[in-house]
Amino acid sequence: MAFSKLFGSALVLAQLASSNHVQVEERAETAHSEPFYPSPWMNPKAIGWEDAYVKAKDFVSQMTLLEKVNLTTGVGWQSEQCVGQVGSVPRLGLRGLCLQDSPLGVRFADYVSAFPSGQTVAASFDRSLMYQRGKAMGQEHKDKGVNVMLGPSAGPLGRHPEGGRNWEGFAADPWLTGIGLAETVKGIQDTGVIACAKHFIVNEQEHFRQGGPNVSDAISSNVDDKTMHELYLWPFVDAVRAGVGSFMCSYNQVNNSYACQNSKLLNGILKSELGFQGFVMSDWAAQHSGASSAVAGLDMTMPGDVAFNDGKSYWGTNLTLAVINGTIPEYRLDDMAMRIMAAFFKTGNVIEQPQINFDSWTKDTNGPMHYYAKEGEQQINWHVNVQRDHRNLIRDVAAKSTVLLKNENNALPLKSPKFLAVIGEDAGPNPKGPNGCSDRGCDDGTLAMGWGSGTADFPYLVTPLDALTMKTADDGTRLEHVIDNYAWDSTKTLVSQADVTALVFVNADSGEGYITVDGNEGDRNNLTLWGSGDELIKNVSSLCNNTIVVIHSTGPTVVTEWYDSPNVTAILWAGLPGQESGRSIVDVLYGKVNPAARTPFTWGAKREDYGTDIIYEPNNGAGAPQQDFTEGVMIDYRYFDYKNITPIFEFGFGLSYTTFEYSNIKVEKSGAGEYNPTTGSTTEAPTFGNFSTDLTDYAFPSESFPYIPYYIYPYLNTTSSAAEASQDPDYGQTAADPLPRPAPAASDEPGGNRQLWDVMQTVTATVTNTGSLVGDEVPQLYVALGGPSDPPVQLRGFDRMRIEPGQSAEFRATLTRRDLSNWDVASQNWVISDHPKTVYVGPSSRKLVLSAPLEL
Ligand SMILES: *[C@@H]1O[C@H](CO)[C@@H](O)[C@H](O)[C@H]1NC(C)=O
Ligand SMILES: *[C@@H]1O[C@H](CO)[C@@H](O)[C@H](O)[C@H]1NC(C)=O
Ligand SMILES: *[C@@H]1O[C@H](CO)[C@@H](O)[C@H](O)[C@H]1NC(C)=O
Ligand SMILES: *[C@@H]1O[C@H](CO)[C@@H](O)[C@H](O)[C@H]1NC(C)=O
Ligand SMILES: *[C@@H]1O[C@H](CO)[C@@H](O)[C@H](O)[C@H]1NC(C)=O
Ligand SMILES: *[C@@H]1O[C@H](CO)[C@@H](O)[C@H](O)[C@H]1NC(C)=O
Ligand SMILES: *[C@@H]1O[C@H](CO)[C@@H](O)[C@H](O)[C@H]1NC(C)=O
Ligand SMILES: *[C@@H]1O[C@H](CO)[C@@H](O)[C@H](O)[C@H]1NC(C)=O
Ligand SMILES: *[C@@H]1O[C@H](CO)[C@@H](O)[C@H](O)[C@H]1NC(C)=O
Ligand SMILES: *[C@@H]1O[C@H](CO)[C@@H](O)[C@H](O)[C@H]1NC(C)=O
Ligand SMILES: *[C@@H]1O[C@H](CO)[C@@H](O)[C@H](O)[C@H]1NC(C)=O
Repeated sequence: MAFSKLFGSALVLAQLASSNHVQVEERAETAHSEPFYPSPWMNPKAIGWEDAYVKAKDFVSQMTLLEKVNLTTGVGWQSEQCVGQVGSVPRLGLRGLCLQDSPLGVRFADYVSAFPSGQTVAASFDRSLMYQRGKAMGQEHKDKGVNVMLGPSAGPLGRHPEGGRNWEGFAADPWLTGIGLAETVKGIQDTGVIACAKHFIVNEQEHFRQGGPNVSDAISSNVDDKTMHELYLWPFVDAVRAGVGSFMCSYNQVNNSYACQNSKLLNGILKSELGFQGFVMSDWAAQHSGASSAVAGLDMTMPGDVAFNDGKSYWGTNLTLAVINGTIPEYRLDDMAMRIMAAFFKTGNVIEQPQINFDSWTKDTNGPMHYYAKEGEQQINWHVNVQRDHRNLIRDVAAKSTVLLKNENNALPLKSPKFLAVIGEDAGPNPKGPNGCSDRGCDDGTLAMGWGSGTADFPYLVTPLDALTMKTADDGTRLEHVIDNYAWDSTKTLVSQADVTALVFVNADSGEGYITVDGNEGDRNNLTLWGSGDELIKNVSSLCNNTIVVIHSTGPTVVTEWYDSPNVTAILWAGLPGQESGRSIVDVLYGKVNPAARTPFTWGAKREDYGTDIIYEPNNGAGAPQQDFTEGVMIDYRYFDYKNITPIFEFGFGLSYTTFEYSNIKVEKSGAGEYNPTTGSTTEAPTFGNFSTDLTDYAFPSESFPYIPYYIYPYLNTTSSAAEASQDPDYGQTAADPLPRPAPAASDEPGGNRQLWDVMQTVTATVTNTGSLVGDEVPQLYVALGGPSDPPVQLRGFDRMRIEPGQSAEFRATLTRRDLSNWDVASQNWVISDHPKTVYVGPSSRKLVLSAPLEL
């Protein structure tokens, strides 16, 4: 990556790093990012990090320059067992840290569980299930020898319903996503595995995330400061506050500066304002510069090589030289090492780590330890079964996350039906097996996971047809099936018979951009069902007056043409349920689990109703496509409400087999004091050690040291001159001095100014089960902040409560200062506006049956 010579300062260059000068000039007219330097160093007094800091300081103080560089730099794609692995520190007994996908289980490993997706568990609106799922995934990673689990995800957030990776995260709402992220982080880290909040940030589409065939640079998400704080940053704040150990910066640019070298984002917002104390790693090959990314706040490069397997690195040798040379100040390298080791100790780790007992690149027992180089033949897979009894949790989470969208004539729960016709490819298996398509890159058979790196291999997959067959066999129900969407004659014969209940399984898939499925390059091309699912439903329901539809999907689909047919008696959204798919849906269909889940996104009547869309074609010539987030905070339900567009199923909507009533809202003001902006300044950066400037001290250790091809090392191949050793044509830049800086007003503890979590109001309401079945209810609290640019309502609280028939329960939620504030760009702080505010409580974002004014 060339630095432009047009600019004198590395500070500016870091923001404009681009492979060609024309680009920089073209972009002068467009969005840009302000520099923020120097890069903040760890705060020894940061709450929750004090002990970790002391341990990290002790360890890092013993490290040599080469050892520190090793810790920051991946050894290259497929050079070791994990999808990402940094160099080791053998002298001090630390093996290379293992970083492994994914947010729903251990990727590329055997004898692991395949969990429901993040978006699916978000629908449960159940904090405890979110935590338990995180913890179970953490345990499996831990037992395989993983140190950093690459999840959970809050980016994409869901600006576009078509967004390919929305399912990896939680909801198209920052508050719910924030809860999901924090609970998952806590669950993972309680097992001793470092969680990774990703992808930071505004990584809302797959198209052009890394540029493209005819496009020089990655797409730029151009987002204003208020929208950033109130929407996209919000859930990441909750992750920082929950103590997350690592962040992953994303592929895209933000205001035409790559997210992994955007100093305003990494130094400014994440490390200074939010006081994040852990480390930032690049997404795989999302690093675009050496010194610039280092001084902009990147702490670890993944997988270490410039392009997969090119044997070169922006760091490794280059980082060693840059520190010797003074280009990158020593404090910055020390801070990188401190942050990595502090996250390691914070999660309860000791230096002696268990062996990594699996290999990402082959399931063979014996093979090359250095897979790409085909060197180091030995045992690499121990086939350790780490699943415990997680299948029970998986079944429970998926059932409790299944949303009942429609239920007429008591179609559900099923009560010993005489005859079930199971229709649709989505009910059955993939003929190639559940893992038959690499990284789940196809949509064959039932959909239980999207595609891409956010996947795990299924240990087995119970299809809906499997589970229904077992259930009906036990009950003596007749069951016949057609699992070919295009065998209309057979389907017609079944569904036109007397006494039939038709269960139609349909889906819509999406995934990560490096795989294209049926012409969908990660992002969906449309919001209709796949495999002519809509036509199949219309066909079946024209003949069968008890047609029950089950949708497996990565987001909303347009159900307009059939959802209100009187013959479509019930609709369920089952998300991406994971390995227990069939048993979970049977639990819901037969009422073993009374549904209570809520849709974590809006179901619009048509695609245009969302107001945002993916950029599918270059819109800036050969330059980086420009995606202007002009809708501000108005995405998903906020947009529908703001524009007064009626959705088919609103955010937060979901039915039960029983009924609930809401009454008696009360609002009580708490005695929170005045909000004081943080003042003062940070201390001067410390350094932990010294180093020599004699290049010969950094040569490969000896002639006998095994040089593995393509491997990324911290050493110098040649010690004749720094420039030769670096091979970087633009070697030699300077960075900012580590002087004390003023503390941002909104900063303080990890997460921000602690007073933002002061409780301002407590809201209570009574919820009564007025039906005849025990069930869970999800009361939701929304606020109207009242300003002209505020969404009409925003989610600010929820609970999932089990209530016996005829009984009542008290819903209780607190509103913090943060919940009631807007981001004020001028003061760079949160402020509570003078606009009159209202709180609402109800069972969905549009059934706000209770309301009360807020007295501030
Ligand atoms: C992007 O540009 C907008 C508009 O100038 C600004 O409000 C925002 O703070 C910038 N964000 C970043 C990360 O540079
Ligand atoms: C750096 O890591 C590599 C790979 O783990 C290891 O072989 C080497 O000894 C390490 N170097 C130092 C200086 O610790
Ligand atoms: C790239 O540009 C070439 C030449 O204009 C064109 O033929 C090709 O279709 C373009 N590829 C894509 C993916 O747009
Ligand atoms: C140093 O980085 C440059 C890119 O900036 C790269 O071309 C060069 O190969 C790197 N050197 C090493 C030793 O990897
Ligand atoms: C860094 O190294 C380069 C290349 O060897 C050299 O030109 C430059 O003067 C060095 N800078 C410092 C500050 O030592
Ligand atoms: C939408 O995309 C799916 C998957 O590629 C495809 O099966 C379907 O035909 C498309 N729908 C329309 C209306 O083009
Ligand atoms: C729907 O029914 C028509 C006949 O009415 C048939 O031609 C078509 O193939 C059917 N499509 C599906 C997906 O069942
Ligand atoms: C509903 O199903 C019945 C058959 O049970 C059929 O006669 C009728 O036309 C269907 N109605 C609709 C609206 O499809
Ligand atoms: C469906 O049609 C059958 C006759 O085919 C009828 O007995 C039954 O009442 C109908 N059900 C509904 C819900 O309309
Ligand atoms: C680093 O400091 C130690 C302890 O003071 C000293 O023994 C060593 O010689 C120093 N090394 C260099 C390269 O300055
Ligand atoms: C370093 O030296 C090895 C062995 O001669 C060579 O294979 C490798 O390509 C060199 N690496 C770089 C980055 O020059």
